Amino acid sequence: MDMIETAGLTKKFGDLTAVDGVSFKVAEGEVFGFLGPNGAGKTTTVRMLCCLLSKTSGEAHIGGYDVAKDHDSLEIRQMIGVVPDNVGLYEPLSAYKNLDIYGRLYGMTEAGRRQNIERYLGMLGLWEKRDVAAGAFSKGMKQKLAIARALIHDPKVLFMDEPTANLDPESSKTVRDFILDLKQEKRTIFLNTHNLDEAQRVCDRIAILNTKLMATGTPDELENMVGGKKVVVELAQASDAVVAALKKKFAGVAIVSDGAKLSVASADPDGQVPDIVDAVVRAGGRVRFAGVEGSSLEATYLQLVRKEG
Ligand SMILES: Nc1ncnc2c1ncn2[C@@H]1O[C@H](COP(=O)(O)OP(=O)(O)OP(=O)(O)O)[C@@H](O)[C@H]1O
Ligand SMILES: [Mg+2]
Repeated sequence: MDMIETAGLTKKFGDLTAVDGVSFKVAEGEVFGFLGPNGAGKTTTVRMLCCLLSKTSGEAHIGGYDVAKDHDSLEIRQMIGVVPDNVGLYEPLSAYKNLDIYGRLYGMTEAGRRQNIERYLGMLGLWEKRDVAAGAFSKGMKQKLAIARALIHDPKVLFMDEPTANLDPESSKTVRDFILDLKQEKRTIFLNTHNLDEAQRVCDRIAILNTKLMATGTPDELENMVGGKKVVVELAQASDAVVAALKKKFAGVAIVSDGAKLSVASADPDGQVPDIVDAVVRAGGRVRFAGVEGSSLEATYLQLVRKEG
């Protein structure tokens, strides 16, 4: 089942079109990454999906409910949790109290609140700090507290707007692992991030937004959209004989030689490295390095985002 579905979703602020005709689907249990430069419309999209901001046109449904219908939006609010881009906590109150108040807003019992507060603060390494005022937390601790808060009522769908932006490498890993744990529980996660590496590690599918939706696909699909991978062989010294031998053996394949560095385009570079090295050696070449280079998620991202700019 599609948990999140948009069709032609558009938001205008006066003359400015912030989100332009965006259509995508996110299946239940999927981790969906939303990438795009500053001002691309990621936060605006999330706000529309969470019924915090009205859309200008198009459609958006969460769990089959329409974000534009008042009655449906009540259902949606029960179903979703939001980690907003600006955390916003009750600073004078303890971490525990911050979560407890949220749990009450969702009509949870005291026992239910206690259980989830302990569970989520524990998972995020904050249980020991439960009695400390949120205002005395560091940025990263506040960020984690906001994540616990978004989960307090056990939502099916979790929206996270740059959840690791303020976190140190170890805490970022805690949150990434946490996202993967939530995925095991079949929750649907919508993740806004600037961290391509993070997106690649945790997301099942990724969309690249630049006001318009530029591309959607699995990390592998996006990686391979641009350029294509190649096998790179560095020789101890440049050799015309080696280039000629490669061109003969791999006829019809793009082979570029740049001094002692040769690159051979390949659809299956990992599989072809041994054959290519073998051909080089047979032609008398001495190999200093051989490996696979090219198309990364970053390359695809930069190409798609620049095209529009
Ligand atoms: N309330 C608002 N009123 C007017 N313009 C707005 C409003 N909210 C957002 N915008 C504009 O909409 C565009 C998209 O902003 P948005 O915050 O969605 O981008 P983003 O992709 O989340 O960027 P970032 O990576 O910096 O968080 C920007 O040009 C922004 O100035
Ligand atoms: Mg944003």
